[in-house]
Amino acid sequence: MCGIVGYIGHRKAYPIVLNGLKRLEYRGYDSAGIAIYDGKELKFSKTKGKVVDLEKKLEAEISTEGTIAIGHTRWATHGVPNDINSHPHFSNSGDLVIIHNGIIENYEPLKQELKNRGYSFQSDTDTEVLVNLIEDVKKKEKVKLGKAVQIALNQTIGAYAIAVFDRKKPNEIVVARLGSPLAIGVGENEYFIASDASPFLEYTKNAIYLEDGEMAVVRTHKDMKVRKIHDDSLVDPYVQELQMNLEQIEKGGYDHFMLKEIYEQPDAIRDTFRGRMLADQGIIKMAGIDDHIDKFINAKRILIVACGTSWHAGLVAEYVFEELARVPVEVEYASEFRYRNPVIDKEDVLIAISQSGETADTMAAIKLAKESGAFVFGVCNVVGSSISRETHAGAYTHAGPEIGVASTKAFTTQITVLTLIALQLAKKKGKISTSDFYTYLRELDSIPEKVAEALTSNEHIEKIAAIYKDAKNCLYLGRGFNFPVALEGALKLKEISYIHAEGYPAAEMKHGPIALIDEQMPVVVIATKKGHYEKVVSNIQEIKSRSGKIIGIVTKGDVDVKNLADHVIEVPETIELMTPLLTTIPLQLLSYHIAVMLDKNVDQPRNLAKSVTVE
Ligand code: M6R
Repeated sequence: MCGIVGYIGHRKAYPIVLNGLKRLEYRGYDSAGIAIYDGKELKFSKTKGKVVDLEKKLEAEISTEGTIAIGHTRWATHGVPNDINSHPHFSNSGDLVIIHNGIIENYEPLKQELKNRGYSFQSDTDTEVLVNLIEDVKKKEKVKLGKAVQIALNQTIGAYAIAVFDRKKPNEIVVARLGSPLAIGVGENEYFIASDASPFLEYTKNAIYLEDGEMAVVRTHKDMKVRKIHDDSLVDPYVQELQMNLEQIEKGGYDHFMLKEIYEQPDAIRDTFRGRMLADQGIIKMAGIDDHIDKFINAKRILIVACGTSWHAGLVAEYVFEELARVPVEVEYASEFRYRNPVIDKEDVLIAISQSGETADTMAAIKLAKESGAFVFGVCNVVGSSISRETHAGAYTHAGPEIGVASTKAFTTQITVLTLIALQLAKKKGKISTSDFYTYLRELDSIPEKVAEALTSNEHIEKIAAIYKDAKNCLYLGRGFNFPVALEGALKLKEISYIHAEGYPAAEMKHGPIALIDEQMPVVVIATKKGHYEKVVSNIQEIKSRSGKIIGIVTKGDVDVKNLADHVIEVPETIELMTPLLTTIPLQLLSYHIAVMLDKNVDQPRNLAKSVTVE
């Protein structure tokens, strides 16, 4: 939940680390700090606030010279966001400096032990305990920094991605990971360290993603060696060639990443099925599925685990799998699943959905399912992410980097990939006729154009946003395939505008939430044709009789809802099970415009972070 960056080489380190922190700010943005060795001394600056605040403070306070530096952008776990708790942290001697993403769970007993040995602490963080533990080991055992880090880490319980260096030996940085991501960019006599590869894209395309339980000492003019932390054995690291480019991680003329990512959806969805679906020939080819099709065919049930928006995509997938492949599906919050002693059969298939591929609860659910012998399949966006490597097989969404904290294109591409899987499974199980299979494929092929058409309602949606921006509450209703979309619409509004919103199955409204409805209450109702259209129209009548304000998401050309609702937003017609790919779009735009009008930080909403690598 924090971002870490480091550089060691022949270039000026400061701009690399500073820009890297700006790119990693999606991981946490309540405080930031940098330490630089300027050739003579170790300089540092840290502050509560965002990386721009650090930049102003740092450039006024210290020299930015030097070719080795580490930096951190924080999402607080231990200790409130303030200057003292910000990283980097220093050992008592001032020699060792560390940045850390993760949680050292046994920091209390370690801290007590260190206190008993005369150490003192400035901050409330677990990280300061770790750096002093490393110093203590280094002194006691008379070992080099790399060895001291290894011994210290073997005494910890928890998760970490760390970078640490010694001001007395400023030609090496020791890095290690367990449960938090860490990428090393390999250049010519230079190394870049970061939570993901975005900070070093313009310098090198060669990256090593450390695996859990691995560490490395990176030195200038020396080959890097990767070792296992627990037994010191050497590992042959895989150098991956990065496919990402700079353009993908910049705003490209949009005011916010979220808006850019909303508009990227036609291309992102196309990229998701490109090379996997030949609509005219009625073919789906997905190695991750085809190579393990027996596991899917023989599955007694499919379990889906995820969090947040990815969980909503899982709920849509439940409807789609059951409809097409006639296999029972259960969708679980990963955070609940992992702690409730679930019954998992070795004939179950577990699908883990995660944009970042780093969500700690989803990762823990995967490990649990693997222990029970289930086959585990990942649906991730970030290539090379921890979840994509922990699962037996998987399919990437290929949505491109999603930087806005509020997930948009991740959701629609997750649904796309899951629909492809459901269709392939339905075909292999003989649950779908050839002509229906063709029909679905052709329709999926047309979805990017239809999403583009849905996006043309943007200005109309902006006007509706202006009417409802001051609402205190908002209800989102949907049925069937669009019930999860109602949940997702409510989540989008909550997380970026801080307006309380709830998603509900439309028919459940009369079992409680209808009591909330009065003339102040905007109710967004997804009422596309087919499915439960007539039932939803009746639900709309019920809201209207209680003076609620109705915003209908309707199929193009709809008349009935238009006659009842205060506003309608049209989406193109499609097959019912694909409607979530279209109905989601106006809800994303509505929440976006409301948040902009309320002057909220759309891309970095308060208290949130893009990647939740803590429980
Ligand atoms: O990276 P993941 O898909 O595993 O993340 C899961 C949730 O943390 C994420 O979807 C979160 O709910 C977003 N802020 C929603 O917009």
